[in-house]
Amino acid sequence: MFNNKTVLTGVKPTGTPHLGNLVGAIKPVIDMSNEAEKAYIFIADLHALNAVRDSSLVEKWTYEVAATYMALGLDTDKAVLFRQSDVPEIYKLTVFLMNVTSKGLMNRSHAYKAVTAENEANDKHPDDGINMGLYTYPILMAADILLYNTDLVPVGQDQKQHVEMARDIAGSLNNIYGEELLVVPEPVIQKVAAAIPGLDGRKMSKSYDNYVPIFAQQKALKKLIMKIVTDSKRPEDSKDPDESTIYLLYQHFASDTEAQSMRKQFTDGGLGYGDAKKMLFELIDKTMAEPREKYYELLANPQQIEDVLMAGAEKARVVAKETVDRVSKAMLGRSV
Ligand code: ADP
Ligand code: TRP
Repeated sequence: MFNNKTVLTGVKPTGTPHLGNLVGAIKPVIDMSNEAEKAYIFIADLHALNAVRDSSLVEKWTYEVAATYMALGLDTDKAVLFRQSDVPEIYKLTVFLMNVTSKGLMNRSHAYKAVTAENEANDKHPDDGINMGLYTYPILMAADILLYNTDLVPVGQDQKQHVEMARDIAGSLNNIYGEELLVVPEPVIQKVAAAIPGLDGRKMSKSYDNYVPIFAQQKALKKLIMKIVTDSKRPEDSKDPDESTIYLLYQHFASDTEAQSMRKQFTDGGLGYGDAKKMLFELIDKTMAEPREKYYELLANPQQIEDVLMAGAEKARVVAKETVDRVSKAMLGRSV
């Protein structure tokens, strides 16, 4: 489905990437980038600013996200990996788009409404703590998408509305200025197999502090896996693999034969949780050994990451400049 298409996706640098991100986002994005005619993957550092107030954290997480994609084999000669803030055309297009975006559209944003609803539930003013970065988030995201003539935007369900807003905003600008100035994008909603469970059995998430970092070092990885919460079934008892966080994680890394084997041992009884955790640890440890080494090597040499990001930004700017030029001529009568 991605043949002959320009696909683009952004990743907010708001924490250390975890196994849920790996299975739900990073792996599918790497696969997609191999299929697409043109793939843009960027680190949305400007989008992190409405929440992350410490520049050293923005920098740390930006490098971690970039190093994760690089260590896991993203082909950065083919896919364009870059940092959002390194393409100055984003600021220009955002200002242009503001003028064709209705305030009402922003009022309907689920992300904004979730915060106002929570404020109201807590007897606060609905706009308490809401900055314009959060309120206008969908405009910046529309600019991200529209800058690169994007056809398809693979995102999780939670981001679908934002892509639909980018469609509305592009349509509005095209409508007013009477030309096909901007490519109208389409969301591609990634089919989520059930969410990856975290250590406590809820969805693995930064917000619940129940996550396993993709590149946790051996000792830390073992400690985390041993912490997975289980029920009190004894080794000889039969267990439902589909209810077990251990199995649900294991199957994502295992071959079919390995997964079948653990499934059977759980169902038949005879495999205790302690031994199953050990199997899970050994499998993740083995699978991640090579990329993990690459990851820490990259983080120890951030200039290598910078070089890739800067080369990516340079490629991205070629198309970004053309888009801004088209829009600027239509709106101002001249290039800016
Ligand atoms: P978090 O919940 O840790 O804040 P994000 O919201 O930043 O994670 O998620 C980034 C991407 O990773 C999204 O595309 C999301 O679908 C995917 N993702 C996050 N957690 C999981 C999970 N537990 N299982 C599957 N995919 C996940
Ligand atoms: N808003 C997305 C998120 O929170 C990140 C993002 C920013 C993005 N710009 C984008 C995703 C453009 C796809 C396309 O996950």
